[in-house]
Amino acid sequence: MYCESVDFSRELADGIVLRPVEAGDAAPLAAAFQANRSHLAPWEPVRAEEFYTVEGQHEVITRRREECESGTALSMVLKAADGIMGMVILSSIVRGAFQNAHLGYWIAHSVQGKGIMTAAVAAAHDIAKNDLGLHRLEAATLVHNVASQRVLEKNGFEAYGTARAYLRIAGQWQDHRMYQRIL
Ligand SMILES: CC(C)(COP(=O)(O)OP(=O)(O)OC[C@H]1O[C@@H](n2cnc3c(N)ncnc32)[C@H](O)[C@@H]1OP(=O)(O)O)[C@@H](O)C(=O)NCCC(=O)NCCS
Repeated sequence: MYCESVDFSRELADGIVLRPVEAGDAAPLAAAFQANRSHLAPWEPVRAEEFYTVEGQHEVITRRREECESGTALSMVLKAADGIMGMVILSSIVRGAFQNAHLGYWIAHSVQGKGIMTAAVAAAHDIAKNDLGLHRLEAATLVHNVASQRVLEKNGFEAYGTARAYLRIAGQWQDHRMYQRIL
C-alpha cells in the first residue's frame, strides 16, 4: 500500500488525531495496553506478557507497518496530546471481487462514553471508502458487547447474523454478532 505516500490521518474533536501507527508509538502503546489491560481483557484474545512491553509493541508495529506496505491492513492509533488513547484497525483487506476489510477498535477506559469511537469509526469509514476505495466493511462483536454494537449502529452498520464460536476471545471460542456496512 501507499503507507508513506497517502495521508491517512484524520483530525477528530478536541485535538485527537487518527493516524497510522508509527515506530515511535511503541512506548506510548505499551503504556496504554498496560493501563487498560483489565479493561480490554474480556474483549480481546489472551496476550503474551511480551505484548505489554515496549519491545513487544515494537515487534507488533513492525508487522503492522509491513501489512500496510503490502496492502493487507491499515492499523491506526488515536493520538492525544498526552498519549495514545486507542486504536482503529482495518485488517484482512481483500481486493478483487470482494474489496472488503474487517474493522476492529478499542479505546482507553478513562475516555469511554464520550462519543470518541463513534467519531473514529466515521473517520475510518471515510478512509476505507475514499482513500482505500473499498466496497464493504465488516465487524464482529461479542453478543453482549452492547457499547461496540451501538458504535457500529450509529455509523450505519447493519447486523446480519450471529456466527457461532467465531473468535477465541478471553480464552474461549465465543459467539459473535456480525455487522457490515456497504460503502
Ligand atoms: C466499544 C468501545 C470502543 C466504545 O467506545 P466509546 O468511545 O466509549 O464509544 P462511544 O462513546 O462513541 O459510544 C458508545 C455507545 O454505547 C453506549 N453504551 C456504552 N455502554 C453501554 C451498555 N453497557 N449498555 C448499553 N449501551 C452502552 C453509549 O451510551 C453510547 O451510545 P449512545 O451514544 O447511543 O448513548 C469501548 O467501550 C471499548 O474500547 N471497549 C473495549 C474494547 C472493545 O469492546 N472493542 C470492540 C470489540 S468489537
